[in-house]
Amino acid sequence: MPISVVILAAGQGKRMKSDLPKVLQPVAGRPLLQHVIDSARELSASDIHVVYGHGGERVRETLAAENVTWALQAEQLGTGHAVQQAMPAVPDDHLVLILFGDVPLVQGATMQRLVDAATNGEALGVLSVRMQDPTGYGRIVRDRAGTVARIVEHKDANQKERAIDEVNTGLMAASAKRMREWLAQLRNDNAQGEYYLTDVVVLAAKAGLKVNVIPADSEDEVLGVNDKVQLAEVESIYRKRRATELMLQGVTLVDPARFDARGSVTAGRDVHIDVNVVLEGKVTLGNRVRIGPNVVIRDSEIGDDTVVFPNCVIDHASIGPNCNIGPFARFRPSSSLAQGVHVGNFVEVKNSILGAGAKANHLTYLGDATVGERVNVGAGTITCNYDGVNKFRTEIGAGAFIGSGAMLVAPVKIGAGATIGAGSTITKDAPDDKLTLERSKQVTLDSWKRPVKQPKG
Ligand code: UD1
Ligand code: MG
Repeated sequence: MPISVVILAAGQGKRMKSDLPKVLQPVAGRPLLQHVIDSARELSASDIHVVYGHGGERVRETLAAENVTWALQAEQLGTGHAVQQAMPAVPDDHLVLILFGDVPLVQGATMQRLVDAATNGEALGVLSVRMQDPTGYGRIVRDRAGTVARIVEHKDANQKERAIDEVNTGLMAASAKRMREWLAQLRNDNAQGEYYLTDVVVLAAKAGLKVNVIPADSEDEVLGVNDKVQLAEVESIYRKRRATELMLQGVTLVDPARFDARGSVTAGRDVHIDVNVVLEGKVTLGNRVRIGPNVVIRDSEIGDDTVVFPNCVIDHASIGPNCNIGPFARFRPSSSLAQGVHVGNFVEVKNSILGAGAKANHLTYLGDATVGERVNVGAGTITCNYDGVNKFRTEIGAGAFIGSGAMLVAPVKIGAGATIGAGSTITKDAPDDKLTLERSKQVTLDSWKRPVKQPKG
């Protein structure tokens, strides 16, 4: 049966005390709603509907790249009413899977189990969990035979019902045709004056349908996010989940509580990662890569046996094998390093290509540069790539030696095997295999005297 996913995301999230709509609050740098959509994509759903309301335009703009159908719920009249807003676009012969935009850690596999529990629309599937402290949640009420009778919201529950620790996570799956009929019958005569989605359970039971309540793997997976405390809890569960995945793949994490994988990470064998490392976007680490403390790597790949020393920021770079990077090196987007390259402390590299064995070990800026094999770039060298309006390239031939403190004013070419004298400002191309320098003559002034402090008058 084709699946239509409906994600409820119209709530305001008052308790966040933030101008950012709740479903846009970030976990691992991505909006809560993005996590839900990404997990929903693991099912082969035919369409995904998002019910939006509060901060609506901002939510739509942020997720504009997502191929989803948007349904506006202008007034937040309850979860049942919210689902109803999406239903006109859901065909009768689909199975509808309802997810919450503020419950971001539910895994695709759990969603699939819930879909299966709806047995092709013959049953109503409800995802439950046992909570140590069920306060605030809807309780699953069973009759003496253990059959599910209804869900009662915390605010509507009596003393006995409040003692139930089996709670509704909010996620459900059912035939779209039936869901549509049930939603039309909802009433709002309850403590909150809302149209509760949870009341479809009674209607399903009355219609003689089976209600299949299946438990989530853990409380963690179905945590809802209502305030910044829960946001941080969810972040730390996510962090732990990702760290565990990588450790099980063989990566050594010195402290999994001080490591954040926020995107997709591919790692070879015997990768070693020290504390406070953040990996974002798509990161690929080769075999035996070692990452020191306090390193941020975004959308980059790092070759076998490369060592990244502490405090580096690496953004959109492709770093070859056997390189030494840092400490304190910064890669701005679009750089590519061949094997055995050394980029040392306080070196910034942007949009540059460094050939095998090239070295820039200290205090240097390489921007829009092509650096040949075995080039040695001396301390304090700067490629002057910008005239205030345009950017130009610097090309340095294989085996060149750039003396310390050189200014290479682009566009400029340094020949293969060339040597540039320290402190030179190079504005014209330098030939292969020769020493080129640009300096004024050194003078010593015999008559010069050091100023002395004037007595205060
Ligand atoms: C809901 C469930 C409760 C369950 C709990 C799990 C109902 C009536 N209750 O309660 O049984 O234990 O979730 O977390 O369903 N939303 C809208 N439009 C609305 C109201 C809500 O889009 O008019 C969205 C919210 O943005 C949120 C979700 O629906 O993503 C849940 O709403 P919320 O108000 O948090 O429901 P709970 O009271 O937590
Ligand atoms: Mg809630």
